[in-house]
Amino acid sequence: MAQMDPRMTALLTYLDAQARQRDASWPAILERTVQDLAAAHPHFDWTGIYLLEGETLVLGPYVGAPTEHQRIGLGEGICGAAAAERETLVVDDVGADPRYLACFVTTRSEIVVPILDGERVLGEIDVDSDQPAAFGPADRALLEQLAERLARLAPPPRAGGPLDGIGEAILARLDAKNGCREAVLAQSRHAVQHAARAIRAAHRADWDEAEAILAGGGEIMQAMQAAARGHADLQSAGYMLDAQKELAEAHLTLALLRDRPLPGPEQLGVADAAWLNGLGEAAGELRRAALDAIRLGRIADAEALLERMQEIHTYLSTVDYPAAITLNLKRTNDMVRGVTERTRGDLTVAVGQAELKAALARVEAGL
Ligand code: SME
Repeated sequence: MAQMDPRMTALLTYLDAQARQRDASWPAILERTVQDLAAAHPHFDWTGIYLLEGETLVLGPYVGAPTEHQRIGLGEGICGAAAAERETLVVDDVGADPRYLACFVTTRSEIVVPILDGERVLGEIDVDSDQPAAFGPADRALLEQLAERLARLAPPPRAGGPLDGIGEAILARLDAKNGCREAVLAQSRHAVQHAARAIRAAHRADWDEAEAILAGGGEIMQAMQAAARGHADLQSAGYMLDAQKELAEAHLTLALLRDRPLPGPEQLGVADAAWLNGLGEAAGELRRAALDAIRLGRIADAEALLERMQEIHTYLSTVDYPAAITLNLKRTNDMVRGVTERTRGDLTVAVGQAELKAALARVEAGL
């Protein structure tokens, strides 16, 4: 028996190595196989690999002239016959075989070796020669060894049946949505932290700091909306609206404390319901500012803050829509009513004490 070409020994060794430790892709392995086969055999005038997709053999890598037979149905031609029969076919004279599908006028003989995983046909190695009866037992044995190794390296079959295609498309879409959701979630946490820091700065009357933090919050909001684009469910998700509410609260607290016009929902890029709840929460922040003012004896400032809280409560009471639309605004407004009443009580006591103090001072002065 003739010695095997060293390039073929090397190819078999390469395929065995890939089976042990894979570092090449399936297409790269197929490409190298056809290249090496063609290079080592002068009588291989066209060497290609077809892969079975459903009921069709689809041409993969090849060496030789381009062929019109890129897709061959099972059972068609010598290629289709070899796949259907799961048998190597050697045709010494293609002109005498009625199954033969002519690719090139010069072709005289052909060998087709199926790549089989048990009963399953993965594809086949197809070689044409311009010489009649070009393929001997050594060629057949070599190609069968190669086919066997390729079968071991082939990627596992995709989930077949009615789910094929639809199932994969759904997984791809869910994968994309999950990525967007994670981005939105991370940014919403970031936005909430920004809002809290801005409100703390506002209570210290550090307006520049508060503005700077809110500018950063606006950028986060835009990134969040970009990540949610095309996903209506993410755009209206609780964490998205919460982040909008917190940022609206911070902007509105800052404007109310500085006696500036309130930025509207469009200006802030937040949903109406998020803005309304943010306004209610801002009233809660005004209570804290009012208590600070009372402590410092700035009764008039505290009264102005109480007046705004009352306005907010009165306005929110007019928003009478289902909780599903208003993000449970009623609960927020109940809180606003509570803090407004308590602030009124605190202020009444403070005013009474101030008057008492003044009266005592007058008595003292008169003594
Ligand atoms: N002759 C093949 C068609 C493929 S070409 O040889 C590249 C056949 O009869 O199936």
